[in-house]
Amino acid sequence: MHSEAMESAYALLERSIMTHNGEPVGTVAAVASGDVAADNYHDCFVRDFIPSALVFLADGKPDIVRNFLRTLLQLRSQHQRIHGHQLEPAVLPASFRVHRGHGAKGKEQIRADFGDHAIGRVAPVDAMMWWVVLLGIYCRHTGDRTLAAEPDVQRALRGLLELTLREGFEVFPTLLVPDGSFMIDRRMGVYGHPLEIQALFYGMLVSAIDLLRDTPDVHEVIVLADKRANMLRNYLQLFYWLDHDRLNEIHRYRTEEFGSGSVNMLNIYPESIPEWVIDWLPERGGYLVGNLGPGRMDFRFFALGNLLAILFGIASPHEAQTIMRLYQERWDDLVGNMPAKLVYPAVMGKEWMFMTGSDPKNVAWSYHNGGNWPVLVWPFVAAAMKTGRGDLAQLALDVADRSLPQANWPEYYDGRRGNLIGRRAHLNQVWSATGYILAHKLAEDEALLDMFHAVDHHRKSANGAD
Ligand code: GLC
Repeated sequence: MHSEAMESAYALLERSIMTHNGEPVGTVAAVASGDVAADNYHDCFVRDFIPSALVFLADGKPDIVRNFLRTLLQLRSQHQRIHGHQLEPAVLPASFRVHRGHGAKGKEQIRADFGDHAIGRVAPVDAMMWWVVLLGIYCRHTGDRTLAAEPDVQRALRGLLELTLREGFEVFPTLLVPDGSFMIDRRMGVYGHPLEIQALFYGMLVSAIDLLRDTPDVHEVIVLADKRANMLRNYLQLFYWLDHDRLNEIHRYRTEEFGSGSVNMLNIYPESIPEWVIDWLPERGGYLVGNLGPGRMDFRFFALGNLLAILFGIASPHEAQTIMRLYQERWDDLVGNMPAKLVYPAVMGKEWMFMTGSDPKNVAWSYHNGGNWPVLVWPFVAAAMKTGRGDLAQLALDVADRSLPQANWPEYYDGRRGNLIGRRAHLNQVWSATGYILAHKLAEDEALLDMFHAVDHHRKSANGAD
């Protein structure tokens, strides 16, 4: 590791801190450089703050994390009725910003974006999930459970469970969400049951179970959350999992099966298997597919969903090893010149037109459509360390060390191998720097993986393994 690179990453983190009434409350998405960052990058995004938060916690600076967690709760009161819709009381914003009034004594105000300002007006479903997961990590890492015990925090946790466990129109344990409701916050065919949301949903459920006080009025919702978490994990392991044997099975699936004895429950047509996956999937590799619904399996590989599935213990130990082996065998495709590819492969041509609405930012091998995102180095290293693949963690860090710091922390990279700085990528992108710091910390001190222990523990206890 270059210490200069670390210094530069920390300097950026320092500059990114956002204060409210003199207290640090978050970090901006990107610090303006020569090329002006897009307007919303001055906001503190919930998902972007996660690696910042973990770095602060690892460095023994929990105050900003505590302030952030509290601030988000207070912001819920800014919900607006929009054209007859009312956002659910438990929903949390995608991002927020501090506005300063004029003059030295100008009053500060925080304004939140609940997706009502975001490009494309996408709903940030992942924000509330990250909030609960981070709260769990905060409590565990600091040993301070007083924040979680505060009545408004308990109320919020309960509200989030009630919102997400509510009876819907579905027959699956997965959560139905609109397009672009997580890190991929644009139209990308990720509506329905995208893996990343399911992984976070699981993380949220098990964290909330751990954080909620089991009083008579919440007991029922805790029991429900526990059941749902177990069903969700089993469902993901069973139906999202794809390896060589599964692919063979799907290839020979019978279709149009009615009733309870059906094997191909979701009626996936073998004809929908894309050509690329047949040659690409190695004999000994496997992964959780990107999305699943009636008659629909999205075979694309989504990195964050898979890595979180390992980290949260959704993937079985065998599956976790198999995912890491896929990384090893398809390294150039999934890591290449910058860890790591967000989605593989890219969609192009007519498929790109239909899927993205001809989005020029998401052309093939760029941004969300097959770009490489430096922030992913932290979940990659964490998953590799957890599965005993320190060798792969080191390789990824070497790749990141080679070009990331000198390039001033770009947001993303373009190209099949991720060898070009993203055409419209911001520089000084904070989560690229914090992801890098965190990845190095995780590789050096495996004990930090303990941060995710509470989430992972649920699986083990449910299986009676500890
Ligand atoms: C882009 C990304 C989103 C991120 C935001 C701020 O919109 O798609 O995931 O939170 O930028 O960095």
